[in-house]
Amino acid sequence: MPNPNVTIPPAADHIRADSRSQHANPHVASCHPLPGGANCGLVRIMTGPRFTKLANSLPASVPFVGPETQERERGRPFRARLGANESLFGPSPKAIAAMQDAVADTWMYGDAQSYDLRKALEQKFHIGMDNIVVGGGIDGLLGSLVRLIIGPGDAVVTSEGAYPTFNYHVSGYGGVLHTVPFRDDHEDPDALIAKAAEVDAKLIYIANPDNPMGTWHDAARMQAMIDAVPDGALLILDEAYIEFAPEGTAPALNVDDPRVIRMRTFSKAHGMAGARVGYAMGAEPLITAFNKVRDHFGMSRTSQAGALAALQDESWLADVQSKVAAARDRLTKIAADNGLTALPSATNFVTIDCGGSGDFARAVLTELGNRDVFVRMPFVAPGNRCIRVSTGPDAALDIFAEELPKALAAARETAM
Ligand SMILES: Cc1ncc(COP(=O)(O)O)c(C=O)c1O
Repeated sequence: MPNPNVTIPPAADHIRADSRSQHANPHVASCHPLPGGANCGLVRIMTGPRFTKLANSLPASVPFVGPETQERERGRPFRARLGANESLFGPSPKAIAAMQDAVADTWMYGDAQSYDLRKALEQKFHIGMDNIVVGGGIDGLLGSLVRLIIGPGDAVVTSEGAYPTFNYHVSGYGGVLHTVPFRDDHEDPDALIAKAAEVDAKLIYIANPDNPMGTWHDAARMQAMIDAVPDGALLILDEAYIEFAPEGTAPALNVDDPRVIRMRTFSKAHGMAGARVGYAMGAEPLITAFNKVRDHFGMSRTSQAGALAALQDESWLADVQSKVAAARDRLTKIAADNGLTALPSATNFVTIDCGGSGDFARAVLTELGNRDVFVRMPFVAPGNRCIRVSTGPDAALDIFAEELPKALAAARETAM
C-alpha cells in the first residue's frame, strides 16, 4: 500500500536541456552560471532521495510516542514518569562515576569490540567472548539480527500485542509477521512454536518475562520451547526483565545451541536506559555474523564504561531488585485499594486490570495523563483492559496513589 504520509517526487534524475520546464517543476534547478555569465543551457532535475519500494510502503510511525514528545504536546512536564519501564531507582553511583570519568575521553570513538564489557560478561556467564555481542540496547541488537536473517517475504512469529519494536524491525526489512494470541495474559510458547512450524518461520520472538503483561514462564517451560524450535528457525529469547524474575525463570545458558539467542540489557535493572547498552548471547557463528551488519562504532565510551561499572556493582543491583519487589507490592495494594486487580509481575512494572473495556482503560490512562502521571497500556485486546505502571520510589508512587482514584472517577464519568 502506498504511504499517504510520504510524498514521492517525480521519478526522474537526469539532465534536461529545456530550461523552460524550470518554473513548471519545483524539483528543477538551473545549473551554475559558467564563467563570464554564460549559461550551460542544462537544467538538473532534482528528485530528492529515491527510497526503496519497501520504505515507500511503510508508514512513518514510531513504536512508542516518547514521554518527551507527549510533554511538548501537552505544554507541561509529567510529575510522575511511570510509563516507560525505566528504573526510577537510577544507575549505580559507581556507574555514574565511571561515566563522569569517561566523558572527557569523548573525543575518542568507543572500543569497536566493547572488549572490556564483553570480557566482564564472559566471566560472569562462563561463556566465550565470541558468544557475546554488545549493541545499542536490545532494540539495536534486534534490528541487526532481523537485518541478518529476514528479507522480503520471510516469515516471523511473535505474540499479538508483544513488544512492538521487534515488529517494527521486521516490517523494516520486509518480513511477514504471523501472530498468536496471549493465553491467560501470558505469551503462549506452544502456540508460537506451532505457528512457526506452520509458516516456516525464520525467527520466533518471545520475551520472558514479557512486556506488556509482566507475566512469565519458568525455566522448564522455556527450555521445552527451545527444544521444540523447528528446523531452520531461530528463537529470540528477550530477557530484558530477567533480573526481576524469580530464581528458576531463565533456562540454563547453553551457547552451543544454535536454536536460540538470548538478549539482555542495562536499561532496566541497571537503570541505564538512556545509555543504550544491551548484549546478546548465542552460538559463535551467529554472534560473529553480527559483524557483517552491526554499527561497529555505535557504542559510546561513556556507555561502555558505565555498563562495565554497573555490572560489577552487584550490591546496587540487589538493592534495586528488593526495592522493585517492594514497589510491585505497593502498586498491587494501590490497585486493590481502588477495587482493581494487579497482575502478578516478574518485571519492574505492574499491569493493572481496570476491570472494563479497552476504551475504559484508555480513559483511565488519559485521565492520569491529565493529572500529569505518565503510564502506558497494552495495545491489543484483551490486554488493553489494563494499564501498565512502572515501579519506582515512594515519592513517585505517592503521586500515582493520589491521582488514580480521581482518574478512575473521571473515567467512569466519561464512560457513563
Ligand atoms: C521486552 C523488551 N525488550 C527490549 C526492550 C528495550 O530494551 P533496550 O533499552 O535494551 O533497547 C524493552 C523496553 O521496554 C522491553 O520491554
